[in-house]
Amino acid sequence: MRRIPLAQPYWDEECQKAAIDALSSGRWVKGPQAKSFGEEFAKWCGAIAAVPCQSGSAALWAAMRLLDIGPGDEVIVPGMTFIATATAVSLVGATPVFADIEEDYWCICPDDVEAKITEKTKAVIGVHIFGQVFSPRLKEICNKHNIALIEDAAQAHGGTLDGVRVGAIGDIACFSFFPSKNMAVGGEGGMITTTRPDLSDRLRRLVDHGRDDTLESIELGTNLRMSEVSAAIGRVQLRHLDDWIAKRRQNASFIQHPTKVRNRSEHAWHQLCILVNNPSEIIANLDANGIDSRVHYPIPCNRHQVYSEHIQHEISLPVCDNIAHRLVAIPVHPSLTKDELDRINSALHL
Ligand SMILES: Cc1ncc(COP(=O)(O)O)c(C=O)c1O
Repeated sequence: MRRIPLAQPYWDEECQKAAIDALSSGRWVKGPQAKSFGEEFAKWCGAIAAVPCQSGSAALWAAMRLLDIGPGDEVIVPGMTFIATATAVSLVGATPVFADIEEDYWCICPDDVEAKITEKTKAVIGVHIFGQVFSPRLKEICNKHNIALIEDAAQAHGGTLDGVRVGAIGDIACFSFFPSKNMAVGGEGGMITTTRPDLSDRLRRLVDHGRDDTLESIELGTNLRMSEVSAAIGRVQLRHLDDWIAKRRQNASFIQHPTKVRNRSEHAWHQLCILVNNPSEIIANLDANGIDSRVHYPIPCNRHQVYSEHIQHEISLPVCDNIAHRLVAIPVHPSLTKDELDRINSALHL
């Protein structure tokens, strides 16, 4: 009986062949694989352009640069997310302003976002947390106040809102292909997409030293390019993605849990998190039954040491403080068998 992991990267002969072909071609960087991967990904999610890059964090940094965000600017981010959502803002010298999350869906709270908008606010980063798509109100609020909406889609490949795929909802979206994500590239990787024609040319420039076609650097950038071997693996995985997401949805509906899904949306089920009062007990119990689980994310971002000087470090975001340490992620990935799903259900309801 295998131990059930929280995530299981996919690897088969087709991925292997794509990787070896890319290496054997001798073209290891800046070649046809990355170009095609970007085009195929944009088409898949409905964005007008997409460019592969080295990680989800790199994509978030590029999003900040694309919107010319820097010192003196504020960007509103949720208090509960992976830390990279907030540090991308700090890394360009701007200030992350932490908003609380929704009690029901755990995404950034639109009311708190609106309350925190100032004349310095340049953008909101909405995170589709665990695969749950953020509120449609975010877009209305950003439109009303004329600020950009960035999707942190690192956990949400395949989620939809009103039939529109994640990646084509906001001005810019940032995906991660970290091995645990809904699809991966055999290492680190990310993708940045846009729905705005005025940003599409700059996307490619920003991951390549800000250079134009003549190789002149016309704006500040650095090397964030994805390698050809990763892009080749990504292209194979992208072709499986719809099936994997369907399987994640099927698994989530089979596992007995009380997690709510937002109306008008489809969850991408990167993680299946359950809100409990006794996380250590639940985790120990799952562990004793050979099932991995963990708390996601125990410390709200404003309370991390990196933000010890931040004005909100000691200020409570009540919902984040109340639930962040009580959300336990359990396996929901597509490689789970029927027996394993049964084992998860029984261990959860002992
Ligand atoms: C919500 C969120 N944002 C950003 C990232 C950063 O992605 P990467 O690890 O590819 O840099 C992650 C990855 O874990 C994430 O979950």
